[in-house]
Amino acid sequence: MNKIVVVGAGYVGLVTGACLAQKGNFVVIVENNAKKIQMLIDGQIPFYEPGLDIVVQENIKNKRINFVSSLEIALSENPEIIFSCVGTPSLPDGSADLSYVWQVAVEIGKYMTDYCLIINKSTVPVGTAQKVKKIIKMQLTQRALNLNFDVASNPEFLKEGDALNDFLNPDRVVVGVQTKLAEDILRKIYQPIIQNEEQFLVTSIESAELAKYASNAMLATKISFINQMAVLAEKVGADISEVRLVMAKDKRIGSYFLNAGVGYGGSCFPKDIRALVATGLEYESPMTLAAEVEKINNDQRNWFLQKIFDYFGYSILSKNIGIWGLAFKPETDDTRCAPAIDIIQGLLERQVNILAYDPVASENIENLFDNKISYAKTAREVLIKSDFLIILTEWKEFLAYKPEDFNILKDRVIFDGRNCFNPEKMLEAGIKYFDVGRCVKTPQQMQKFFDDVNEDIQTNQI
Ligand code: UDX
Ligand code: UDX
Repeated sequence: MNKIVVVGAGYVGLVTGACLAQKGNFVVIVENNAKKIQMLIDGQIPFYEPGLDIVVQENIKNKRINFVSSLEIALSENPEIIFSCVGTPSLPDGSADLSYVWQVAVEIGKYMTDYCLIINKSTVPVGTAQKVKKIIKMQLTQRALNLNFDVASNPEFLKEGDALNDFLNPDRVVVGVQTKLAEDILRKIYQPIIQNEEQFLVTSIESAELAKYASNAMLATKISFINQMAVLAEKVGADISEVRLVMAKDKRIGSYFLNAGVGYGGSCFPKDIRALVATGLEYESPMTLAAEVEKINNDQRNWFLQKIFDYFGYSILSKNIGIWGLAFKPETDDTRCAPAIDIIQGLLERQVNILAYDPVASENIENLFDNKISYAKTAREVLIKSDFLIILTEWKEFLAYKPEDFNILKDRVIFDGRNCFNPEKMLEAGIKYFDVGRCVKTPQQMQKFFDDVNEDIQTNQI
């Protein structure tokens, strides 16, 4: 089996290292964050990813995974294969911050002692691999060494919350290479993972780099498309879930990534869309559609927030607001670019009291809001202590609640940003339920609805 170095023990690097170890390779994971390294050596995972802890612990035990704090240490073992999975966050202008990628290239050039294949797995703008190659060559020249090496692009297609499955059962493995040797090494690495040849896509390096952005931008486009449709659906009295059903029957459209809601978040879509727009500007080929996808996604949060303000008016100032869900999606503790951040920021401008609950993500958001919001230990605690509820992440545990359970909310009002519940059932249970693109009301229902609101106002319920 192969000796493999993985740089970066983040959502991508740790999954990559653990899965490659699981497939029999000997993996050294380089992580420069001392706190993270210690946790990993103790077999703890520094973030929530279902099942990852088991795989990591098992492979530490059978000595297939080792953690080190620097590439110099890792390269002293003379590895043939190095995956770079370091962060490539957005810079203020939206372009990708590649400083960590360059840092890894410099260190490889400084410490490599024989042929190695440097495989970039982080999402990076087109042309990055060639620049990595130049940096390594410069370091080797400074060392008066003429070692052979290759660079390749092997973009990740891992969804947080389902990353192990995405790595071990991929739709496709994409390898962007310049030499047959690089292709052969990658083919050997992925042999135990791919089921058939068609899954293993060999392209140029540039095609692999661009295909990653194109894939994420396409997925984000579907989401912004259905979200814009949902806003129109409410205005024309259509039900976006019915519209989606009709669209999905066309195999060319399909049903995936057409769930309307408060918008996409995470460490990838927002970052990758902005980086793609920046690449378009750099090459004078403006990515106007991608720019519009990002704008629609930002507008969706404001539109949802405005619904809440329109309903309560000034009475919101005294409200105890309950929030279910802080993570950008279920099954992750990642709150990067989560809709909850924007919604909470918008609410806090109105001096309200917020009690939030998330099964795993609360502590990742605490440092953002300090003591400006409170955190509940259970979802039910939020219902008991709040006037109304806002749902921002469709965690499974929330879906288990029945409409009648929400009658303990003082105002019996819900704003559901992830369309978790059935509007009709909510109405039958006497809950005033607002969601994204489905709350179709007949004129009679609307009349009853506002009669109820007037009655509540008369009796000082809201
Ligand atoms: C990564 C890529 O950054 C992103 O482009 C891709 O789309 C998804 O995979 P992620 O794994 O979420 O994102 O990154 P992050 O969670 O930031 O993890 C990167 C890790 O690398 C961190 O633990 C960081 O401490 C570590 N790191 C960073 C190093 O060990 N060395 C470095 O020089 C820089
Ligand atoms: C994404 C891509 O799916 C993955 O292939 C890539 O490698 C990394 O980026 P991730 O960001 O982890 O994965 O999660 P994903 O499941 O794609 O969801 C992204 C966001 O879109 C979430 O905020 C989710 O709530 C939102 N979403 C998703 C919708 O709003 N509607 C949908 O129908 C699907």
